[in-house]
Amino acid sequence: MKIKNICCIGAGYVGGPTMAVIAQKNPEIKVTVVDINKERIAAWNDENVENIPIYEPGLSAVVAEARGRNLFFSTEVDKAIDEAEMIFISVNTPTKTYGIGKGMAADLKWIELCARQIARVAKEDKIIVEKSTLPVRTAEALKSILDNTGNGVNFQILSNPEFLAEGTAIDDLHNPDRILIGGDSSSKAGKIATQALVDVYASWVSEEKILTTNVWSSELSKLTANAFLAQRVSSINAMSELCEHTGADVNEISRAIGMDSRIGPKFLKASVGFGGSCFQKDILNLVYIAKSFGLNEVADYWEQVIIMNDHQKRRFAENIVKTLFNTVSGKKIALLGWAFKKDTNDTRESAAIYVADYLLNERAEIVVYDPKVKAEQIYADLDYLGSRNPEENRNLLKVVEKPYTACKDAHAIAVLTEWDEFKAYDWENIYNCMLKPAFLFDGRNILDRKKLANLGFATNSIGLPAVQMSKEKKLTSLATAG
Ligand SMILES: NC(=O)c1ccc[n+]([C@@H]2O[C@H](COP(=O)([O-])OP(=O)(O)OC[C@H]3O[C@@H](n4cnc5c(N)ncnc54)[C@H](O)[C@@H]3O)[C@@H](O)[C@H]2O)c1
Repeated sequence: MKIKNICCIGAGYVGGPTMAVIAQKNPEIKVTVVDINKERIAAWNDENVENIPIYEPGLSAVVAEARGRNLFFSTEVDKAIDEAEMIFISVNTPTKTYGIGKGMAADLKWIELCARQIARVAKEDKIIVEKSTLPVRTAEALKSILDNTGNGVNFQILSNPEFLAEGTAIDDLHNPDRILIGGDSSSKAGKIATQALVDVYASWVSEEKILTTNVWSSELSKLTANAFLAQRVSSINAMSELCEHTGADVNEISRAIGMDSRIGPKFLKASVGFGGSCFQKDILNLVYIAKSFGLNEVADYWEQVIIMNDHQKRRFAENIVKTLFNTVSGKKIALLGWAFKKDTNDTRESAAIYVADYLLNERAEIVVYDPKVKAEQIYADLDYLGSRNPEENRNLLKVVEKPYTACKDAHAIAVLTEWDEFKAYDWENIYNCMLKPAFLFDGRNILDRKKLANLGFATNSIGLPAVQMSKEKKLTSLATAG
């Protein structure tokens, strides 16, 4: 079976980039990405390809190549479902905020709505591909809804979790470590559906990298992969706190253990804590699933990854208050970076949100600069926490367009995202326009600590001893202060 028409429901961080690359690599397949969010679709269709709603290096070029040729963005969901032979479901599956499983289980409301809509519209057999990250055995529920509410047509359900990382999504999609497809290998229709999806990817991915498994293994592999990745971050972050108490250097530890081929060097960078829309939600979901089977030890084991991450964010903020002589009330603190990692404008679960909230509770005056995140997003993130009313958030936290404006007259700077441009700033200039002592908290360990100390900064990094300003600078700064 050769697929000629694909529909993807959900034009977000996964649906948009994934479908853009599928369209780029399969010019003979018509790919339509649909969404109920009109503004998002309008932005995907913006004449100026730099205005598409998602920032990812290389994405706008891929969209420019395929859009209007065989890649389309639309709000006409029914039409796209009707025309497609293969439908990807790539809608959001956030943590539930109500009812049973609140704060842990994945909210499958949007998935179910998609299934009901597909069942209502489909007049011919369809292959349904789970692209969203889902609890294990969701395909069973999908099948039941499709078969019981459909028009008597046949649905094959495949699981095809997405492993791209934001910030490197296009590279990851062009050169994936693997493609995972879970399907029903016990039936002929299941095998045909699986092969049809294999063929889509085989246009640019070598066949040995395309793994086929049963549906449940595929669903659970995605949760497992995210749990293992997040666990590494929490593991090195746990060691970073021990380093700060013992004089060991967490960067040296990462290098030393990373050279062990069984451990490997990647994902061993200590930081203010992981963020992003996936790690926390997927681990909470895993914990919930384990608990629902009565597997309490399994649940507790994975929950600790989240507990450690929350602790890391909190202790970073606490350290700022403690270092600034136990009060930040009325003090200007510049936050460099709001996105949860560099090269993305995604802010979901970003450590910056929680650090800012903590400091605002301590009555600090915050000024934020991020090269890609818009002010309205920053305020929306804070308002969502509900810690204070929107007006107070706008009074106490300002968003500026230039880093030097953020740092002028600040008591302290906290680096919260590892944007490359931060390394290239004129730090001497920044030092000169700050209040003294000039404190710097590097939540990503990206800046040159020695250089900063020589300029006069008092720097705090993660998992490293605090560096005081050089003696010579200390004398000058005391003289100026006096
Ligand atoms: N963001 C990532 O890095 C990443 C990586 C791998 C997997 N995932 C998973 O992929 C899924 C999507 O994530 P995302 O980051 O793209 O989310 P997102 O919130 O950016 O996008 C989801 C989109 O789906 C749309 N939508 C919801 N219900 C709809 C419906 N019934 N009809 C049409 N459109 C609908 C929303 O309007 C939204 O634009 C999630 O399950 C997530 O866990 C995300």
